[in-house]
Amino acid sequence: MYTIGIDEASNRLAGTKPREWAEFKARWDAILGDADGTVTRVTPRIILADGKPVGSINIFPQDDLDHVGYWIAREYWGRGISSAALSLLLVEYQKRPLHATTAGHNHASIRVLIKHGFEIVSRSMTPETDRSVARETLLFVLGHRGFV
Ligand SMILES: CC(C)(COP(=O)(O)OP(=O)(O)OC[C@H]1O[C@@H](n2cnc3c(N)ncnc32)[C@H](O)[C@@H]1OP(=O)(O)O)[C@@H](O)C(=O)NCCC(=O)NCCS
Repeated sequence: MYTIGIDEASNRLAGTKPREWAEFKARWDAILGDADGTVTRVTPRIILADGKPVGSINIFPQDDLDHVGYWIAREYWGRGISSAALSLLLVEYQKRPLHATTAGHNHASIRVLIKHGFEIVSRSMTPETDRSVARETLLFVLGHRGFV
């Protein structure tokens, strides 16, 4: 599971830059060692399939908004795993509004969000950052105007 964030094809789909192994592992060690999220402000959930960890789905703050993000190991794509994980998390975590961003070309992630009632708030070209490539970015929200 630790390899997901450094996988090049996954990063291409997400429109992000692969992290160095040491940086990626240090980040996850910090998140998993911070059980109540007071330091990292991340609420992590590890996704299990066939009894193995195959990805993660996390609530985290970005631009002062609650965001959800998820990554699945490439060999498990297309089995409905992130859809199932998001369904479970939306029951467990009921604070709204909840936001998500995707690259404009990430049709699988866009589909997962739309299926769960997320709506597009904005679509804009965003410049390269230390974590992302220059790309079209879609911002989604669930639960504005009072519906979930
Ligand atoms: C995006 C990602 C999370 C999807 O995970 P997954 O477990 O394969 O997703 P699911 O199988 O639950 O659902 C994918 C949906 O997208 C659809 N889909 C997949 N590729 C598609 C495409 N190119 N165009 C349109 N729809 C597509 C699938 O048919 C499915 O929809 P359906 O249930 O209506 O048939 C996974 O590819 C991943 O981890 N990517 C790398 C990291 C990433 O992009 N994370 C999201 C950042 S916003």
